[in-house]
Amino acid sequence: MISAEKIPNNVHLSGNKRLQRALEHWQPRYIQWWRDMGPQGFQDYHQVYVRTAISVDPEGWAHFEYVKLPEYRWGIFLADPTPDRRIGFGDFYGQPVWQEVPGEFRNQLRRLIVTQGDTEPASVEQQRWLGQRCPSLYDLRNLFQVNVEEGRHLWAMVYLLHSYFGRDGRDEAEELLERQSGNRDKPRILEAFNEPIDNWLDFFMFTMFTDRDGKSQLMSLSESSLDPLSRTTRFMLTEEAHHMFVGETGVARILERTCELMKQAGYSGDVRRLGGIDLPTIQKHLNQWFSLSLDLHGGEVSSNAASYFANGLKGRAKEDSFDEHLVKDACYHMEFFEDGKTTTRDVLMRNAMNEVLRDWYVGDCAAGVVRWNRILEQHGFSDRLRLPDRKFHRHIGMYSGFHFDPNGVPLSADEFARRKQEWLPSPADSEYLLSIMAKPVYEPGTFANYIAPPRRGINQLPINFEYVRTEQ
Ligand SMILES: [Fe+2]
Ligand SMILES: [Fe+2]
Repeated sequence: MISAEKIPNNVHLSGNKRLQRALEHWQPRYIQWWRDMGPQGFQDYHQVYVRTAISVDPEGWAHFEYVKLPEYRWGIFLADPTPDRRIGFGDFYGQPVWQEVPGEFRNQLRRLIVTQGDTEPASVEQQRWLGQRCPSLYDLRNLFQVNVEEGRHLWAMVYLLHSYFGRDGRDEAEELLERQSGNRDKPRILEAFNEPIDNWLDFFMFTMFTDRDGKSQLMSLSESSLDPLSRTTRFMLTEEAHHMFVGETGVARILERTCELMKQAGYSGDVRRLGGIDLPTIQKHLNQWFSLSLDLHGGEVSSNAASYFANGLKGRAKEDSFDEHLVKDACYHMEFFEDGKTTTRDVLMRNAMNEVLRDWYVGDCAAGVVRWNRILEQHGFSDRLRLPDRKFHRHIGMYSGFHFDPNGVPLSADEFARRKQEWLPSPADSEYLLSIMAKPVYEPGTFANYIAPPRRGINQLPINFEYVRTEQ
């Protein structure tokens, strides 16, 4: 039985029989999915010190407790409504926002919600083995915090499907539990969400770059004319920020340790002999997840993106900060790759909306890399991490089918194949990373040799707090 009390919410679930009935069917299947495809080996005998959202105000946000993962209280939250909110962009600019789905945009909106929803369980599936290789209890807890929140993001999208899309919505909600990351027959919709996340460097790069794509997408959906979608995604953004914190600080702590080990190794980059992660390996993983996440923003010139914008379904990140919101005749100066050379041409801005969002995303990533490089600088090293050119290693859009090095210099397919392992993780790199992560660290306050401890613990608790404990 569905009990509205067990599902923290601010959508008046106890008074909504239709939603209760839909969830009654879906929730047991969700729990089964979580057990089968969620964190492996941590379902029944462990308690995790997690934060549970019990309301949207700041106090409701700061609720920490030990829970067994399958008993986490996944809730349904919408950010508070903005009074008299108006459509902020596109052909319906200035009109009141919609509380129901307009018939003519039903398919497009469902597509947007399903595509977003599909990424949420996908990342939980991708990360399900990491607990067996964790660098510390602190990190293990952060992994599970991210996982339960991605689970809640799935709930958020399923809430919209159940509430606004009738029968089709219910079918889509089922299918979100049926596709599986990396499954040959029923893969997840987007490519980056079918890639394996085998080791913790992958995990931290994923939460830095791929969760940041989540931030891009959620920011643009939070501008939507469909008010429930806007409010749902606005609340999701607050959780997303924590995922990127995990990624950014995770890589920062690896860098910190790598610097220490480079000094110990007599100012040599060869830290593998001391069990550390060398800078080239870090750079390769950055290249991998940044390029995969660029693909998630879609093709550079896109009539779908134009139509989403025109119809007011998906705006630009921080739409408010732009001067002009109709964007009827404005142009975007875009780079093209033709006859082996890059040129630039103007395209209608509406058709370039994916690229506009990608620009915002690249800027946000670049700021993070600057923060990482400060660590290298503080330790007196001249090496720097960098974002590869956006043409590098692309599988979606106009650069797919061509090859470029990280500086954006075109290469033949043969040359790229020959040099690929200079820029992307090789099987030997993965093997090495797995070898130093093979033994998980479950001792409170102890950290694997390749990563520095965090500056502070969770919720003002000490770093050596037992963030995950076996059941007592
Ligand atoms: Fe998410
Ligand atoms: Fe996330």
